[in-house]
Amino acid sequence: MSVDERTGDAQRDYPRFPQPTVHDHHGSTWTHDWHEVAGRLLTHLDDDTTDSLPDMLTVPVADYLDPVRWEREVDVLFRNTPIVAALSAHVPDPGSYRSIEIAGIPVLTVRQADGGVKAFINACRHRGALVVENGCGQARRFTCPYHAWSYNNEGALVGISGRHKVGDVDTSTHGLTELPCEERSGLVFAVLRPDAPLDLDSWLGGYDAALDALGLANMELLDERELIGPNWKIAFDGYVDGYHLDILHKDTLGTDTMGNVMTWDAWGPHQRVAFARHITHELRDIPESEWKPAKHVGFVHTVFPHVSVAGNGGRGAMVSQLMPGPTSDRSRTMQTHVIAKDATDEEREATIKRADFLEWVVNEEDYKTGLGIQSALASGANTEFTFGRNEPGNQTFHRWVDDLLANTAVAPPRTSHNESGEH
Ligand code: FES
Ligand SMILES: [Fe+2]
Repeated sequence: MSVDERTGDAQRDYPRFPQPTVHDHHGSTWTHDWHEVAGRLLTHLDDDTTDSLPDMLTVPVADYLDPVRWEREVDVLFRNTPIVAALSAHVPDPGSYRSIEIAGIPVLTVRQADGGVKAFINACRHRGALVVENGCGQARRFTCPYHAWSYNNEGALVGISGRHKVGDVDTSTHGLTELPCEERSGLVFAVLRPDAPLDLDSWLGGYDAALDALGLANMELLDERELIGPNWKIAFDGYVDGYHLDILHKDTLGTDTMGNVMTWDAWGPHQRVAFARHITHELRDIPESEWKPAKHVGFVHTVFPHVSVAGNGGRGAMVSQLMPGPTSDRSRTMQTHVIAKDATDEEREATIKRADFLEWVVNEEDYKTGLGIQSALASGANTEFTFGRNEPGNQTFHRWVDDLLANTAVAPPRTSHNESGEH
């Protein structure tokens, strides 16, 4: 920015980037637009505005509280639409695996010898024990701890202990139950129902190109923590909320990130929000050709319904994977930190410190607040919550939850097992 010598008024040496009229890019071909995002944030700073929607939205408190609705959310959004079972970084080499419970289904993701990836229900085909404990590791075979039936990386049943006393088990029909699964952009997507279709192209609608910009596919696992939070939607609300950043997080994230100044773009239910940082002001004094959005913008990419990636396409990222808890009033979050494969020891140490910091922030600020909201939900203080025009990410999230609940036909629970996937 320069100053007009005659009038003393500030003059802009950079163009204005108005809020676009179209925010949903589902199905369109994405071209890298981080420069434009930086410009939109700068224009908002100049104008004291933020990306916003024409109207406010109210959401009934019952939508957070009703256990019957919660069951349906878990069924429709977590068990019948694609979820993220693992990061590619969890399963780098043939035989490496990640085991985690998502929405009541134990999922085992395994890297194959050919470089592909498969996902299975982590339940033994003898009498259902968890074959692999939750966590990550490397194995040539998975041997059930109960009676030592064993499975290879492809899920085939390859060993039955004391077999001559057991009887005639058809190993060809007793492999681990496979789930539809596909890897994109450093994430392994799966559907938690064996016979469900998985059409990632239409589910992501080109969002994978935006996710690619984060570079997750080329990072490795550094650290992981599990946090307990409130109802999954209360927790999710925090990840797309730019309004609270300099208030709830005044002394932590707010020292770097500004509140109530954000951009918002969507690919169907998936959203990329970007927050202005104090350093964003510097863009005025840098030639536009030298803007570095990765430094001047704080990006959060969410993958509906349960993943949020905090990262700017640099040397690392924090991937938060949100899972419904055993009951409607709780959720679990895996905070996974990935880092460039050639990161130095110093970079790794700094990232672990950052991981400690972010775990504290989410536990003591976001989820503490969320658990407070949870504790008063049934009090009658509110019959509905209000989302402002300045909370477009939250509005979009709740609209999509409602939409998918209304429009997704859910198959009845499976009553029998059939390897062909037919009932
Ligand atoms: S339940 Fe796995 S071997 Fe028996
Ligand atoms: Fe927060």
